Amino acid sequence: MHIREITLSSSICLIVAALTLAQDGAPTAPLPDPLVMADGSRVTTAAQWRNKRRPELLELFTREMYGVAPPRSPQMKFVVFDKGTLALGGKAIRKQVTILLKGDPNGPKFDLLIYIPKAAKGKVPAILGMNFYGNQAVTDDPDIRVTPNRAGSLPGKNEARGGNAAQWPVEAMLDHGYALATFYRCDVDPDTKDGFAKSLKAFYPELQNRPDNFSTIGEWAWAFSRAMDYLETDHAIDARHVGIFGWSRLGKAALWAGANDQRFAAVISNESGAGGAKQFHRGIAENITRLNTSFPQWYDENFRKYNDRDKTLPFDQHEMIALIAPRAVYVASAEQDANADPEGEFASAKAASPVFELLGKKGLQADHWPAVNQPVIGDISYHVRNGPHDVRPYDWEQYLIFLDKHLRGK
Ligand code: GCU
Repeated sequence: MHIREITLSSSICLIVAALTLAQDGAPTAPLPDPLVMADGSRVTTAAQWRNKRRPELLELFTREMYGVAPPRSPQMKFVVFDKGTLALGGKAIRKQVTILLKGDPNGPKFDLLIYIPKAAKGKVPAILGMNFYGNQAVTDDPDIRVTPNRAGSLPGKNEARGGNAAQWPVEAMLDHGYALATFYRCDVDPDTKDGFAKSLKAFYPELQNRPDNFSTIGEWAWAFSRAMDYLETDHAIDARHVGIFGWSRLGKAALWAGANDQRFAAVISNESGAGGAKQFHRGIAENITRLNTSFPQWYDENFRKYNDRDKTLPFDQHEMIALIAPRAVYVASAEQDANADPEGEFASAKAASPVFELLGKKGLQADHWPAVNQPVIGDISYHVRNGPHDVRPYDWEQYLIFLDKHLRGK
């Protein structure tokens, strides 16, 4: 073979290799390495990760993307206004709690709805999920307090009692031995461009008008932690075994909550997409400019610097997922959820693997993007379900297997 032919054939091999990699979710631009410190030195031990790199990355994401959240107030109070009522046809004990974040009923607050399996003996592990349409929409239980808050002006059918029950298979959760605790996104923030005054953020003016301002995704993540503060005080709950869940924008918040708060034993991101699990460096589907334009409340002011810079971002979401290590994480996609770049969600979960491995866990056990409905369940778990952007029974079937493994040692 002539030199030219050799060069040509090796170029073809390289192109084929690059295409194959791209098909498996590899980035089209160099990806930041979570195990390289800002000063260029390599992280080689778990202690270096814990003591130096993890805090450095957490600070970077806080400053450049999610913004600063307030500390827990020593005045915080929990008002248990529904102290344990038999519910759901006798399957559960229901509690409802108002979390007074500054201890003041006229200050920032939100409600937590809790179902504990009636059959439980002793403390139970819990699923803590943020819901999209109101606590009253999660089941058709007639005694759930109806929230006065919502995103739009009129309540739609999703907001009705039980209107969102299809996404919350509460009976299956109880049958698996979990309590469910849930709170409503709009009790925390109305999630509109001009919703600031009605958000809990408004009670923390010192965290606004600065480049690392308290953002809506940051606020939702912080609410997960404040709900956990309550769960730690509830004698029915095993607070060392709490898994958190969020869908879509709420999945973005669940991941960031898990990255920040090491009390969460497991994190589930259901189709969190851009600014959640999706890898920006691939430059596919919803980008930073769109996030910052359509949802300017979600991230901090600093994040706007990166508009149109998805492929050269100095960090990316696999590094945020890595902050959850060594705790368990599940990244799930849906085949028709093109806006979230399902393959890019896989790519981030995969690229977080070296950190899990450094900490003695297994990375994502899939070399290629798995076929539809072929879950890969481990320390990092992943599936792509057939169908649209939604939370379906199939998703929860996998999450319960994942949670049983990590929270119940099964
Ligand atoms: C929009 C947005 C996504 C987000 C989704 C949701 O589609 O572009 O980033 O995840 O809303 O939260 O439903």
